[in-house]
Amino acid sequence: MVQSECWLLRGLLGFICLLPVCSSAAPDLCGPLKTVQDSLNATLRRRYMKMHFPINYTVQVRYEEVFRLRNISRLVNTSNEEEPVLPRDLQDLWLYVSQQGIKKVLRVLPERHPTRRKYLSDLENLFKKFETVFKEGNHEDQENVRERPESLQTIWDHLTEQDYKGWKSVTPKSILDNCYRTMLCLFKECFTKEDDNYDYCEVYNRRKERKTT
Ligand SMILES: *[C@@H]1O[C@H](CO)[C@@H](O)[C@H](O)[C@H]1NC(C)=O
Ligand SMILES: *[C@@H]1O[C@H](CO)[C@@H](O)[C@H](O)[C@H]1NC(C)=O
Ligand SMILES: *[C@@H]1O[C@H](CO)[C@@H](O)[C@H](O)[C@H]1NC(C)=O
Ligand SMILES: *[C@@H]1O[C@H](CO)[C@@H](O)[C@H](O)[C@H]1NC(C)=O
Repeated sequence: MVQSECWLLRGLLGFICLLPVCSSAAPDLCGPLKTVQDSLNATLRRRYMKMHFPINYTVQVRYEEVFRLRNISRLVNTSNEEEPVLPRDLQDLWLYVSQQGIKKVLRVLPERHPTRRKYLSDLENLFKKFETVFKEGNHEDQENVRERPESLQTIWDHLTEQDYKGWKSVTPKSILDNCYRTMLCLFKECFTKEDDNYDYCEVYNRRKERKTT
């Protein structure tokens, strides 16, 4: 229904529509993304990412692999005319971080663990399908890599650093909770219903946020 990039630009925290971005019609991302959304629903996240793990079980991730709504608004705030932060920059980051998170959890799971067999392997594949469509839409290949704004480049440098030191412990469920919430914000044109003006990018206060976890 929506010309995604244009809509998103206008929608994302008050960005205005920039012509060169609007004119490149992206193929429909919403189909593959909705499949991802179905797999990330609250029931399944809770069952496979919490109940199948020992209480308080955590995995180690890089600090930059924690990507929440607050990070989005902070990054959008670094945007300026010389170095605009585009929705696509944030979507790129979301995609990478989400896939890394899934990998981190898969790495600790035994071959026959139900979370692997019945859930995460499938989810990983859904993400790969989405990635294909997403990269095509961005005309991304070896020669066409967008130069990132500095704030994002710093994050990518840390994400790919060889001898990284800042490990953080997070629960498997929190990885997908964050992935889910930031997805609704960054691709909100796929999820907003007409009569609903709920702002998926709004950062809740801490108490509220914890309640939904
Ligand atoms: C999540 O998906 C499962 C499987 O498709 C379904 O049984 C369940 O009702 C869904 N839960 C929510 C909260 O939508
Ligand atoms: C899990 O963590 C909570 C909060 O840190 C703590 O109160 C609780 O005792 C822990 N439970 C177990 C079984 O370690
Ligand atoms: C998100 O913010 C936290 C601090 O609140 C930071 O540690 C983390 O690196 C940020 N993630 C990204 C992707 O910028
Ligand atoms: C981003 O900027 C807006 C407006 O200046 C401000 O209200 C908001 O608190 C900022 N957000 C972050 C996370 O710094």
